[in-house]
Amino acid sequence: MYKKLGGTVALLAVGLLSQAQKVNVPTVFVDAYKQTEVMLASIAEERGNNTDLVSPRTLENGKLKLVPAKDWTSGFFAGELWMLYRASHRSEWKAKAEEFTAREEKEKFNGGTHDMGFKIYCSYGTGYKYTKNAAYKDVIIQSAKTLSTRFNPKVGCIRSWDHHKEQWGYPVIIDNMMNLELLFAATRLSGDSSFYKIAVSHANTTMKNHFRPDYSSYHVVDYDTVTGKVVKRNTHQGYADESAWARGQAWALYGYTMCYRETKNVAYLRQAENVAKFIFNHPNLPADKIPYWDFNAPGIPNEPRDASAAAVIASGLFELAEYSKNKKEYLTVANTILQNLTNHYRSPIGENKGFILLHSTGSKPANSEVDVPLNYADYYYLEALIRSKEGMKK
Ligand code: GLY
Repeated sequence: MYKKLGGTVALLAVGLLSQAQKVNVPTVFVDAYKQTEVMLASIAEERGNNTDLVSPRTLENGKLKLVPAKDWTSGFFAGELWMLYRASHRSEWKAKAEEFTAREEKEKFNGGTHDMGFKIYCSYGTGYKYTKNAAYKDVIIQSAKTLSTRFNPKVGCIRSWDHHKEQWGYPVIIDNMMNLELLFAATRLSGDSSFYKIAVSHANTTMKNHFRPDYSSYHVVDYDTVTGKVVKRNTHQGYADESAWARGQAWALYGYTMCYRETKNVAYLRQAENVAKFIFNHPNLPADKIPYWDFNAPGIPNEPRDASAAAVIASGLFELAEYSKNKKEYLTVANTILQNLTNHYRSPIGENKGFILLHSTGSKPANSEVDVPLNYADYYYLEALIRSKEGMKK
């Protein structure tokens, strides 16, 4: 399937023609309600009595893969349910969102991963944004305390992974920029500035060490905890150490845009603008603006796309457009992505166990989750749709 998407003239034409069009958000949400009903039924069937499995992640050979709360993607489905509630104002969606959010709570004490932001902010954070539930605030603050235990002041960053100890002593991945949103929120909610300071230190250190002169970013930077210096720069999910893994560029764009929102530090705004420029000007960005899984993947145009990267980029661009003088350009690209995801990357209703988008890539080098639906593609797609309609208003 992905070969077909690789470089067809038809898709190229669609990409070019659709640039000025905006997606009809309420109509797309009506489809999302129907598809999520299918997902809820699929979850119930697959889960049975296994309460350790809390959330859908992807399809494996057509079968729904459910994951436990400790999985980095476990919070996205709850976040999707919150966004369906936001769009519909229907109490049924709120009840489901509360149910799936509650399944994440124990993660607030899990200090074994940097993925706290993905898990807790996308579930509890989105829920708090839409309900101001005081109990959610406490979970967010406790989660930030736990995440802060992974900060090393000598390095100036939060440690990302505890796995692959034979390969990296203190790995920090570009994805980790996304977890800073939880820390900024925790300072706002608690008045404790220590979370904010950790987030700023992480963002500054990452800005210094993760980026190449063209503003593409490395996936993994390994640090020496005694000197605080960089030991090496590698990839894990990208094609090569020196390549530009598509989702990594998306995390960078979204992450620095969010950091500008939270700090008003113009250096973060410039960083996000420069990352956007790298993405837009890359000769391997297809006309429909849905990136291949890596900008330097060797078989382009016969390489899988990554709809999740596209969704993250679109959502980030809708926010960046509110802060930058390049507003028109960012909105054009973001709307083009949304239009093409909507028209060419969605699952037919009733199929694919209820996932919304097809054609994402988790880790091509590991031959894992290639050209499949992924819950985070659906999450950022819904978020981008809401942002396209409402802007960043709370
Ligand atoms: N944060 C893991 C990934 O983007 O695949």
